[in-house]
Amino acid sequence: MNTITLNIYRYNPEQDDRPYMQSFEVPIEKQGMKLLDALNYIKWNLDGSLTYRRSCGEGVCGSDGMNINGVNGLGCITPIEGLKQPIVVRPLPSMQVVRDLVVDTTHFFDQYKQVKPWLQSNTPRPEHERLQTPAERTELDGSYECILCGCCTTSCPSWWWNGDRFLGPAALLQANRWLKDSRDDAAGERLDALEDSFKLYRCHQIMNCMEACPKELNPTKAINDIKRSLAKRKI
Ligand code: FES
Repeated sequence: MNTITLNIYRYNPEQDDRPYMQSFEVPIEKQGMKLLDALNYIKWNLDGSLTYRRSCGEGVCGSDGMNINGVNGLGCITPIEGLKQPIVVRPLPSMQVVRDLVVDTTHFFDQYKQVKPWLQSNTPRPEHERLQTPAERTELDGSYECILCGCCTTSCPSWWWNGDRFLGPAALLQANRWLKDSRDDAAGERLDALEDSFKLYRCHQIMNCMEACPKELNPTKAINDIKRSLAKRKI
């Protein structure tokens, strides 16, 4: 059986002085094998201490964002075939490592919460759902699909340098998703909160976010849309 070689970042702060890379040989057990299958093989057959997040295995839950041969992506939908060997797997960049490939996402989700990612409406709650026209619903395409895996935000150099104040591509994509929602009445307050030289304007159009997004979304465009909305309301 053919095998592949993976070099995986290992770090257990409870026992290691510093991180190191560990090499594993994994058999290619099936056609269309994904990187997550290889990690599962290692965990279940070679080294049960290897630590990583995963849940759905289908590119839906956003748990297994990682850096694969220098590019952020989801292990569960990244085919082994075509990856240069040895496959180098590291945690998402610029994040505090909890253990091996598991990073601390607290700050990432705090930034998401900052954009108030929920409906704010002034109209009384209807008996059933709040309706949209098909055109209004279509406006949300390209932003509601975000699974908050963090691949975009952690690929952004502006966020690496100013992540304490720049909200980053994922949170800003979500901010724009609520600005575009026809049922939401808080656009003014949402724009007020974003009008800040760091929170929004630290995006320098590097576009790594767009390249990294496993759902092929375009956070750079969302950020530009917000900037345009802010410019328009000044006129
Ligand atoms: Fe859910 Fe990969 S395991 S997105």
